[in-house]
Amino acid sequence: MLNFNICRTFIILVCVIGSNGRTIQTHNNLLSSRSLFDEKNKEHWKIQAQWTLRTKLDTQLNTQVAKNVILFLGDGMSIPTLAATRVYIGRKYGRTGEELKLSFESFPFTGLAKTYCVDHNVADSACSGTAYLSGVKANSGTVGVSAAVKRGDCKGQQDPHNTVTGLMDWAQRAGKSTGIVTTTRVTHASPAAAYAHSAERKWEADADLTEQGRSCEDIASQLVRGRVGSHIDVVFGGGRKNFYSQKDKDSNGNLGYRNDGRNLIREWIINKQSKGATPTYIENRRDLLNLDKRAYNSVLGLFASDHMPYNLEAEANNPTLSEMTQKAIEILSQNKNGYFLFVEGGRIDTAHHETKARKALDETAELAKAVEAAMRMVDPANTLIVVTSDHSHTMSYSGYSKRGSDILGLVNAKFNGSDNLPYSTLSYANGPGYKPHSDFRRHNLVLDDMNDLNYTFPSLVPMPRETHGGEDVAVFAKGPWAHLFSGNYEQNFIPHAIAYAACIGPGLTKCSL
Ligand SMILES: *[C@@H]1O[C@H](CO)[C@@H](O)[C@H](O)[C@H]1NC(C)=O
Ligand SMILES: *[C@@H]1O[C@H](CO)[C@@H](O)[C@H](O)[C@H]1NC(C)=O
Ligand SMILES: [Zn+2]
Repeated sequence: MLNFNICRTFIILVCVIGSNGRTIQTHNNLLSSRSLFDEKNKEHWKIQAQWTLRTKLDTQLNTQVAKNVILFLGDGMSIPTLAATRVYIGRKYGRTGEELKLSFESFPFTGLAKTYCVDHNVADSACSGTAYLSGVKANSGTVGVSAAVKRGDCKGQQDPHNTVTGLMDWAQRAGKSTGIVTTTRVTHASPAAAYAHSAERKWEADADLTEQGRSCEDIASQLVRGRVGSHIDVVFGGGRKNFYSQKDKDSNGNLGYRNDGRNLIREWIINKQSKGATPTYIENRRDLLNLDKRAYNSVLGLFASDHMPYNLEAEANNPTLSEMTQKAIEILSQNKNGYFLFVEGGRIDTAHHETKARKALDETAELAKAVEAAMRMVDPANTLIVVTSDHSHTMSYSGYSKRGSDILGLVNAKFNGSDNLPYSTLSYANGPGYKPHSDFRRHNLVLDDMNDLNYTFPSLVPMPRETHGGEDVAVFAKGPWAHLFSGNYEQNFIPHAIAYAACIGPGLTKCSL
């Protein structure tokens, strides 16, 4: 079994050390010999490749039962986003960056998942969430219901034949603790797909229910009352406004968004108490960091009125994704039957929609840190960690800049377009970054301040929101049965493989043999 020792940074080239003493020796030699970091020296490449080979040869298949499972989801975390984030991080550490790995890129097994939905070739977070959390492909805009339900079809949602449940439900039935951590509203499409059944992802609060959906239960209410939602032990994220009345204000003076006058935070506490749990509600970073895991086994943390802020714009009282992940693991790991935790880096996607590539890469780096924080806390022998994305985006990473160039800058001027105007390394096929032409000439990007964290990267087609992309997403796995995630498969295979490893759910499992 490959035993990862993770050192200070999440830059894995200098951090992953095999359990085998010989490998450590080789690696130390590699570190101590400066010339071997010289890429012009052919020995550098040979040793690096030989070390990768030895690491692979040392990897044994882990066929234990996965007591714990953590599924990390980078919303909109396309493969170009991963490659660009390495360079973004590398520059912070004074490295060129291209040669580095994000924490989860060191996982021993990787695969590719096909993300299309039943009705559209390019997925949204709702149908894809239904696929990777519940194992069934659905229609765009719907969560936790089969493709027999068209988007907005409230009657279809209410028909129990169309209900789809998955990992949360299966883990709860097996006596495991369950949790959700996200940087978006906890009622947003990806987390909602874990516990809700809704024909329309936008029905987050009762005030969102259109005429068509009037008799359907909103997503926030399903988190508090639903069979699966009401059993989730830890819920951390944003979206407080969907839990209380438009007539009330929270401690920061923000008005709620509900029409029905219900206070779902109070209902959540009462419901947990009635089940014999010890619940608490928190809403800032200090409460989170000071929370005593022995005092509470159920925690609702709503840290923002809407989505949580981007990491680049966060304030001292906003917890990081890593902090939320660590606390969730502390609480959930008290269950001797283990746990299932879903962690979403949800703002990679919103940043891409705005073509704000700097924020998208930074949010991806935050997800990599959260994965690293989790790796430090869990036993790799009994904990399966899967890291993936729900769909791609249209961001392209194009050439030919020099190694270590600013990933958020322009390509070297000698490679200007045939109009002799420069282009940026990162650009989008569509979105709000469209720059109007003047005098039939493309906008000259030299005039732009690309260091502004709100800079909208160039887009070919003007659109208020950049769209998702249709290609496959990467899947990284480590721990029991991680090898099942190799290859190319449909996205809805993911929860089936997780359930097999963890001996949960109605399908074939490691324990059913
Ligand atoms: C590329 O475009 C920039 C900006 O207009 C200009 O300064 C530079 O000279 C151009 N490069 C070449 C090789 O013409
Ligand atoms: C970036 O945009 C956000 C709103 O989207 C705004 O709150 C923030 O002040 C802007 N930051 C800068 C540096 O302009
Ligand atoms: Zn999106």
